[in-house]
Amino acid sequence: MNRKEYVLSQFGLGPRWVRRGQTYPAALASAAAEKMPAVLPSSAEMTHTERLSPAMDPAQPASSQLQQALSADRPAYAYAERQAQALPLAESPYQAVQLSPAQPPARALPPMDWATLEAEVKGCTRCRLCETRTQAVFGRGNPKARWLVVGEAPGEQEDRQGLPFVGRAGQLLNNMLRAAGLDSDTDVYIANVIKCRPPANRNPSQDEIAACQPYLRQQIDHIQPSLILALGRFAAQTLLETTEPIGRLRGKVHHYASTPLIVSYHPAYLLRTQPDKAKAWQDLVFARREMAHLQGKP
Ligand code: URA
Repeated sequence: MNRKEYVLSQFGLGPRWVRRGQTYPAALASAAAEKMPAVLPSSAEMTHTERLSPAMDPAQPASSQLQQALSADRPAYAYAERQAQALPLAESPYQAVQLSPAQPPARALPPMDWATLEAEVKGCTRCRLCETRTQAVFGRGNPKARWLVVGEAPGEQEDRQGLPFVGRAGQLLNNMLRAAGLDSDTDVYIANVIKCRPPANRNPSQDEIAACQPYLRQQIDHIQPSLILALGRFAAQTLLETTEPIGRLRGKVHHYASTPLIVSYHPAYLLRTQPDKAKAWQDLVFARREMAHLQGKP
């Protein structure tokens, strides 16, 4: 297997590589998913499968339901895809949902050493997620690593095992890191914005993010990574305090405090959106180049 085939296989692309330009509807659909429609379509506009999705219940508030549905829910994604194929994005009647960067102020947390911080997270009751979690998920990897990877929140497997990114998305993440020459145990530290699983993997709410933010901040202060890789909308928007969609945040070096930060897609999204794996690989190559530059390597 040559290098290219190896990288493709690590990304789960195998021989069924889809060339850019041949994937217009899917790419458009992912762009539509990122645009986050704010208006729930009427039930009559949906297919039977779409109606079956609990996240698409027309009785629920539109913006949060759809926002959640598009990132987590296949039938809703199918709806977005159908919409995207039917309508040029520029003519879409949907408005982008603005997640307010002005989050409620988080209760202060005194500075703690690493072990105390971990114990504090494990026993945390700062938000409602403590009532439904099995256990809080602090992080995994090397706390002295140069790379910090930040995801969204634990899923079912993570909640069960107490470690981040151990499910299918985690396997993809490990493979991607390995393809980039990084060992996920020794070269990186992996943490999430939210330390407890939101029920049924729903999107975290702004008050949950705000309650959890001091933990990630202190983790970053301890690790002092050379570079942060923010995976997905929640990690990117939370760390950068912005509402910009991922598509516009990719491909640039941002900063969290003074630490360089690069944005890429969330592995769970990549599992659903094969064509964007190639973009995620570009992001990793870009991040690797930036790390080499930071280390004074040509
Ligand atoms: N998705 C995340 O963002 N984090 C995890 O730990 C698992 C899935």
